[in-house]
Amino acid sequence: MEGEYKLLGPDDTRVLGQSFSAVLKCPEVVYLEGDLGAGKTTLVQGIVSGLGSDAAVVSPTYTLVEEYLTAAGVVHHLDLYRIQSPDEVESLALRDRCDNESILLIEWPERGAGGLPIPSWKISMRYGDQGRTVCITRP
Ligand SMILES: Nc1ncnc2c1ncn2[C@@H]1O[C@H](COP(=O)(O)OP(=O)(O)O)[C@@H](O)[C@H]1O
Ligand SMILES: [Mg+2]
Repeated sequence: MEGEYKLLGPDDTRVLGQSFSAVLKCPEVVYLEGDLGAGKTTLVQGIVSGLGSDAAVVSPTYTLVEEYLTAAGVVHHLDLYRIQSPDEVESLALRDRCDNESILLIEWPERGAGGLPIPSWKISMRYGDQGRTVCITRP
């Protein structure tokens, strides 16, 4: 699953998320990096649907975290863009969220520096000439 992918539109992003979901085995911590609008939340939509949930994935921009129950475990989707202080990271109780039935998908991990679990995957997304380019690595 590691590698670089060119995604011409949002549907490609969701399909990649579905394929990626097949390699996830709890526990996992996935960092999702990339600018605003790069497609991180769209990828999460694909991952959650690939894990068998038909829940509508909404951006946790204001709530900081949204949870989805899936057949493969509990997905914790975090967006740390609005984090103002290390206390807020603390309040997310990330340690309690890292158990053997959890998948953490973390947008803007750089805003939670120091307070986050070590990633098992890193996905970086950037704007291309057309669509987006995505790089998946296992750090
Ligand atoms: N591969 C792609 N090519 C073009 N647009 C895309 C692609 N993937 C997602 N998008 C679109 O980009 C916009 C921002 O996506 P979103 O997932 O909210 O980004 P982020 O969570 O990184 O801020 C949405 O309108 C989405 O449909
Ligand atoms: Mg987002």
